Amino acid sequence: MYMNRGLENKKILLGITGGIAAYKSVFLLRLLKTRGADVRVVMTESACQFVAPLTFETLSEHPVQVRLFGAGGDQGTVSPVEHIELAKWPDLVVIAPTTANTLSKLVAGGADDLLSNVVSAYEGTVVLAPAMNDVMWRNKSTQENLQTLSHRGYRVISPGTGDLACGYEAEGRMAEPERILDFVERLFDSDFGNLKVLVSVGGTEEDLDPVRVISNRSSGKMGFAIAEAARDRGAQVTAVVGRVSVPPPVGVRVLSVRTSADMSSAVKQAFVEADVLIMAAAVADYKASSPLVRKKKGDTWTLELIATEDILESIGKMKGRRFIVGFALETDNIEENAKEKLVKKNCDLLVVNNPLEDGAAFEHDTNSVLIYNTKGLLLETGIKSKREIADIVLQVARKEKNFQKILV
Ligand SMILES: Cc1cc2nc3c(=O)[nH]c(=O)nc-3n(C[C@H](O)[C@H](O)[C@H](O)COP(=O)(O)O)c2cc1C
Repeated sequence: MYMNRGLENKKILLGITGGIAAYKSVFLLRLLKTRGADVRVVMTESACQFVAPLTFETLSEHPVQVRLFGAGGDQGTVSPVEHIELAKWPDLVVIAPTTANTLSKLVAGGADDLLSNVVSAYEGTVVLAPAMNDVMWRNKSTQENLQTLSHRGYRVISPGTGDLACGYEAEGRMAEPERILDFVERLFDSDFGNLKVLVSVGGTEEDLDPVRVISNRSSGKMGFAIAEAARDRGAQVTAVVGRVSVPPPVGVRVLSVRTSADMSSAVKQAFVEADVLIMAAAVADYKASSPLVRKKKGDTWTLELIATEDILESIGKMKGRRFIVGFALETDNIEENAKEKLVKKNCDLLVVNNPLEDGAAFEHDTNSVLIYNTKGLLLETGIKSKREIADIVLQVARKEKNFQKILV
């Protein structure tokens, strides 16, 4: 699906730590090499238990470095302060797999082997592809370590769910080499690099009385997929998050809100600094005209609902040079309504979900959308995973506007 942008002339240091997924790094190395990257491999002692350095040595066409001490590292041919020399070399460091142990070491600044010394002395971007048993993955220390590292600027590629070496299916399996390659290519493709992307996610709650609310079935999966895809393309992402049923992706700044009024003020505040806004939240259209201050009792309850603020329309008036993508949910007169909304709300793109289509919109892991600009329909995706849809939306956005011009 993605264009091969090539990694010609890119110097990548591939760190390999002691997990069973080390065998997948052989494929990763091959993929990086076929894209033209110059790759040097540093392995931990534990990693050598899983795959022999010779395999990486042969495929990378460079000596594999393991030891910190010893004349000039492992080969006896290079500097006695090899870790400092190696740290000056790469354009990017990728550690795949990253063990729970190495994550904790990076958080604490530990430097007791060659890889951790190189990372300590390296000033560029480090990509981590954690892989471990699902219980180790969910361990609070591991999760806190990941949050800390991602706040410090480490780029984390979340593991997927699939067969674990432990013999069952669960979360913790290292991202597939193709996904890591894609991530790396996007880091070098700076179209979203340096951009501040603001995404609204999930549903809102509108109070009827102190305990009851009006809400909707939004899960937040689409908005978080957009946030994750923008993050993977190098953007600094802020998500204004309402009611959701899934956790946010790591590396995304989260501002939690509850009502449409909260969402409106959080989005407006964050919008001042944003370059791109993607309004994927399902903001309630109606709220109680006068919510009760005490809990309602009795057999019947007649409610009067009034329209909430149309946040997208308000924001459209503050647009300036920013790029705005709206999401809409339509069941009738889709094209006509989409074009009208684009103009009225001053959006660049409108992504229309049709909840009547099987596997689309609320709660599903998949979606099917139509993407419009002011001239008409640009693209119909058909059913795809929400992450794939997110990537398509960002690709279309990038085609529509040269984002570098926003930054000038
Ligand atoms: C068979 C086996 C498989 C392992 N797989 C993993 C793994 O997938 N992820 C992980 O974090 N640790 C795993 N470990 C534990 C690490 O190898 C251990 O924590 C080691 O100290 C990591 O060292 P390193 O981070 O320096 O490479 C495994 C251990 C064994 C014996």
